[in-house]
Amino acid sequence: MRIDIISCQPGLVEGFLSQSIVKNAVQSQLVDIRLHDLRPYGLGNYKQIDDYQYGGGAGMVLMAEPLARLIRDLQAEFTYDEVIYMTPDGDTFNQKTANRLSLKKGIIFICGHYKGIDQRIRDMFVTREISIGDYVLSGGEIAAAVVTDAIVRLIPGVINDETSALTDSFQDNLLAPPVYTRPADFEGHLVPDVLLSGNEKLIQEWRMEKSIERTTLRRPDLLDK
Ligand code: ADE
Repeated sequence: MRIDIISCQPGLVEGFLSQSIVKNAVQSQLVDIRLHDLRPYGLGNYKQIDDYQYGGGAGMVLMAEPLARLIRDLQAEFTYDEVIYMTPDGDTFNQKTANRLSLKKGIIFICGHYKGIDQRIRDMFVTREISIGDYVLSGGEIAAAVVTDAIVRLIPGVINDETSALTDSFQDNLLAPPVYTRPADFEGHLVPDVLLSGNEKLIQEWRMEKSIERTTLRRPDLLDK
């Protein structure tokens, strides 16, 4: 899978890419992630990438031309399934979308800034718009990093224990059950006996029961799905 991230502040994504699971996935060539700085595509001597909005109003807008040139350059060398614009007015991201996107061969993420990007880029190139929640970030970079992380960990081989991603919260519209590790007695707080029993069937039943209990208490909306 190939992921291309377009940003005018690539430094915000670099740190994320150089760490942990995503970094390992890139090193193992399970995913090819490329970061593209929009600035060199800017116009004129100052490499301008943003401008005031027509009609007036506070805030700058990322111009259509630099974005279009960069997207077209990418599309000339690779066939992408999706061009995704990260924006608070997009569809709210969830595990189902992560699962779907993890099956794609190529994705371009566009990170907005300021007031966003020229609407014509959305009309002409964007196939999907994603929000990571009902709040406004300073830019789409952290949102693109969130979505990239959620996708990459689903690619087979990225997480050592392949079943591990399948037992995550949300995979079956249930929150994950509580987990414990050594010691069995921590300051008088004991690990539930059933987890020490070695009885696989009882353990699975207990986990399912706890998942349902937790979901009922914390996210009853998930049970309706
Ligand atoms: N850009 C700014 N805020 C965002 C959000 N909540 N989700 C995705 N992209 C964003």
